[in-house]
Amino acid sequence: MYDQRRVEELLARWENDPHNAEMRKVRNEVFDVLTLRTIYKLIESGVFSRLLRVISTGKEANVFLANDVAGNPLAVKIYRVDTSEFRRILPYIDGDPRFGRIPRDRRRLVHLWTKKEFKNLDAAFRAGAPVPYPVAVRNNVLVMEFIGDDEGPAPRLRDTFPEDEGRFVDALLDGLAKFYFGAGLVHADLSEYNILVRDSLPVIIDLGQSVPWDHPNAPFFFQRDMRQLSKILAEFDKDFAPDELYRMLKERSGDGRKR
Ligand SMILES: Nc1ncnc2c1ncn2[C@@H]1O[C@H](COP(=O)(O)OP(=O)(O)OP(=O)(O)O)[C@@H](O)[C@H]1O
Ligand SMILES: [Mg+2]
Repeated sequence: MYDQRRVEELLARWENDPHNAEMRKVRNEVFDVLTLRTIYKLIESGVFSRLLRVISTGKEANVFLANDVAGNPLAVKIYRVDTSEFRRILPYIDGDPRFGRIPRDRRRLVHLWTKKEFKNLDAAFRAGAPVPYPVAVRNNVLVMEFIGDDEGPAPRLRDTFPEDEGRFVDALLDGLAKFYFGAGLVHADLSEYNILVRDSLPVIIDLGQSVPWDHPNAPFFFQRDMRQLSKILAEFDKDFAPDELYRMLKERSGDGRKR
């Protein structure tokens, strides 16, 4: 049973933690009562034991570092229900054959969106693409593998340059081949902001907007992604026109050779 007092107790514990000055700041804006209830349910069912600190605060979601019951790190992405990004996310979910009618209620739509990111992570992970392992989803809260180490979260490709360039680019292309042609997903927001670099290898994140190939906007999103990929590769002195990338990724996925 949901118990407001226990939730308040838990929050008090987090807030008294010296690390959690930031937590206080975001608490009121991100933790509405229903989100608190969801966090509580996840704690109660043993998915994680506590939220430790803020990794990232954004317009649509906040990402936290958490601990599982054994003390291992996890990342918890909590979508905000109050933002007015409703119209922005519709083109990425309306028409997705995996989901039925689009809820009119904002909260429900955000819950569906969160579930969509979970499903995308699951499909990508199963296909062997380098994405965070998805642990659990409930309402607007997504729990996944923490990409980083004791020092903190892995940097974004935007903010770092991998040591072994050749190895990185190769892993990126292989990973994307598995993503687009193994899992059959189009990322739809591919950029140097949504690729983390861990041990000089890429990890693709932020899969909320990703769609399967049979989504009506998939070809458009794919072309946009390939323009971004082409820019990323140019940073590594690799010149590929966006149009060539389709064939290259397909070949890498093993599909191309069958022809
Ligand atoms: N699994 C993870 N492990 C470590 N850090 C993560 C993980 N997922 C996300 N992050 C960090 O949180 C940031 C935001 O995550 P993400 O890109 O998924 O959210 P977003 O939808 O872009 O949110 P925003 O509303 O901020 O744009 C990332 O840039 C990354 O630094
Ligand atoms: Mg992002």
